[in-house]
Amino acid sequence: MSISPVQPFLWGAATASYQIEGAVAEDGRTPSIWDTFSHTPGKVERSETGDVACDHYHRYKEDIELMRRLGIQAYRLSVSWSRVLPEGQGKPNERGIDFYDRLVDELLAAGITPFATLFHWDLPQTLQDRGGFTNRDIAGWFSSYAVQTASRLGDRVKHWIMLNEPSVFACLGHALGTHAPGISDLKAFHATTHHLNLAQGVAIQALRSANVSWQLGTTLNLQRGVPGDDSKETAAVVQRHNDLWNGCFLGPLLSCAYPDRIVPELEPFIHSSDIELIHQPIDFLGVNYYSRAYIRAKPCSPLGYERIVPPAHLPRTSFEWEINPQEFCDILLWLHQSYSCPPIYITENGAYFNDFISEDGKVHDAERIDFLNAYIGAMLEARQRGVDICGYFVWSLLDNFEWACGYRPTFGLVKVDFETQTRIPKDSYYWYEDFIRQHRNISRPESASALG
Ligand code: FCB
Repeated sequence: MSISPVQPFLWGAATASYQIEGAVAEDGRTPSIWDTFSHTPGKVERSETGDVACDHYHRYKEDIELMRRLGIQAYRLSVSWSRVLPEGQGKPNERGIDFYDRLVDELLAAGITPFATLFHWDLPQTLQDRGGFTNRDIAGWFSSYAVQTASRLGDRVKHWIMLNEPSVFACLGHALGTHAPGISDLKAFHATTHHLNLAQGVAIQALRSANVSWQLGTTLNLQRGVPGDDSKETAAVVQRHNDLWNGCFLGPLLSCAYPDRIVPELEPFIHSSDIELIHQPIDFLGVNYYSRAYIRAKPCSPLGYERIVPPAHLPRTSFEWEINPQEFCDILLWLHQSYSCPPIYITENGAYFNDFISEDGKVHDAERIDFLNAYIGAMLEARQRGVDICGYFVWSLLDNFEWACGYRPTFGLVKVDFETQTRIPKDSYYWYEDFIRQHRNISRPESASALG
């Protein structure tokens, strides 16, 4: 299926399985690396876990009703690998698949197009026990899981996203150890970086040969480094960050090459024809955008640098992430100019602000409204200037389990009271509803061409 030039732009919202579903031991699901990690003392703030999260597994109908009232045209969800394949591979778990069947049917009945991410970090623990992404066999494991899942849901789900933010999974999970699986080892990091790319390439190839009508893509987190001081060591590590974080995933996928400076580190893991396997045509690229990274050289840290907070005079979110909508526009232009890029969906963008329920029972999250307004404006500017962007998904529909920070950072358009599971749409929810109503029918700019 190729996207016709009159296809409307899609406004959406995104979530991920481990962050919202809960029901971690129900209907045959087995533990993922995030279950193991969050249950390990000291890994997640306040020892919080995704055991219940937003209880979306049981409340998905109520959540889809919130989506329908919001007026979103598309919803990005992720599939829990260990719900579908409790052993990581082999026989599918019918009760796990049933959940996604019901979810997809309910979305379609509400007029919402599902975009499904196959891997949003919750690797089955049983596969981690065999080395996870450090083991080259992951390419085959992932591709069979992808084909099995898509063959069950793909009569209704047309848009498939292979990976979510491989850079974050590789760096935080395998170099810094601050995310699951909690490894801090340079070799594991390099192996994981390459095997993520390889798994993605092998899965795209397998899915493509199973059904040519599926729209296949992947989601990268783009983040350019900014020097945190004037030293020449820092200048060098900013380049290193850009290579490891952006170039190692954009390069092999879109230009058939890893950044030259990183090749010697990855070489031990690259077999002949791997790069060709990774360089698969894709129908769209998902871009998650949050902020730039202020970087400083730190020779004793695993990657040789550390991320620091932006200078005090700059506006920032409650996560200490710089607020700089112009950079969002600029990075999209940079992507468009530097790579031969397929159509783009912004698969995540949003902000954590400390919001609370006021005396009137409402959540007046004016900062989030200003943020979304400015960032959507920046994206539309990039689009006007020729970047082929087909959709935008707010992160997130709901406040949820924000990985190692637990439930503290609230990114949702809807507040969730985790004691009672009450949902309270914030002011930003009503703002986005109104915004979508007014911008429902923006079509793709004439100049944008689709890769069908
Ligand atoms: C992204 C993740 C997403 C969420 C947001 C805030 O890096 O993909 O799951 O945690 O950050």
